[in-house]
Amino acid sequence: MFMLQKGSVTVGGVNLENHLILAAGVLGTTGASLARMLRLGAGGVVTKSIGPQPKSGHAGPCLIPLEGGLLNAMGLPNPSRDFVNEVTPLKDRPVIVSIFGGMPEEFREVASWFEGIAAGYELNLSCPHAEGYGASIGSDPGVVRACTEEVAAFGLPTWVKLTPNVTDIGVIGRAAEEGGATAIVAVNTVRAMRISINLRRPVLGNRFGGLSGKMIFPIALRCVYDLYDACSIPIIGCGGISSAEDVIEMMMAGASAVQIGSAVCDDIGIFERIGEALYADDGSPAGEIVGCAHA
Ligand code: FUM
Repeated sequence: MFMLQKGSVTVGGVNLENHLILAAGVLGTTGASLARMLRLGAGGVVTKSIGPQPKSGHAGPCLIPLEGGLLNAMGLPNPSRDFVNEVTPLKDRPVIVSIFGGMPEEFREVASWFEGIAAGYELNLSCPHAEGYGASIGSDPGVVRACTEEVAAFGLPTWVKLTPNVTDIGVIGRAAEEGGATAIVAVNTVRAMRISINLRRPVLGNRFGGLSGKMIFPIALRCVYDLYDACSIPIIGCGGISSAEDVIEMMMAGASAVQIGSAVCDDIGIFERIGEALYADDGSPAGEIVGCAHA
């Protein structure tokens, strides 16, 4: 297998210790858990999404393990501004703060709390089960551009995480790029549901939620491939990655780095495990393979 050169990399303006980033929503609710994932080999970490007001999230059940995936409808629970205290001790580390809002001004307000603390921002315009937030506004290219402009104005790296639940993800990616995004993260979870045949009711408290894990890898890969053709800024692949082979495949589709989320729930040591299989002292620069499947 193609092996990558060891060492730090810069992707979308953020200096990372390697190409493997902890995705938003998994072990990202405290400074201690974020620091732990950096110690365990993540090249960078993204926090749980933080919004303009504290939120307790959807009624349970909120998380269902499936064969090859996870179905969640957490409902964006977060402590809002109090989260600043969690990430302040990690200033100068590769910590990207995920933020959400219902309108561009709310994105700007939340971003302002983390100025001088975060290594960059990731805009959550993609949660598939939060009315008025996430994908419900992130499917409109005009709104995506406007939210991105507000945050990019701080001059910090600004990543935009997109939903796969649209007809043409390239249109949304271009809107983020026009708004000043420094990278696109593709993708958030796929809108989905299960029904209990005994209870005759949807299993999730919120009825529907977002599907992640291995079963969505081909969808995420296709989105990265489409975005590579549509956009010029770096793309960060996210969705079902759990092996070094998956990382290489994502890079061949066009990803400059990847995020790993659901696979961490099965293996807390996944960053070290993938890193051992992916990197070699005499490895090659990622640039040799990023987007090579388009030739
Ligand atoms: O509900 C949640 O907190 C999930 C967020 C997301 O999918 O972005």
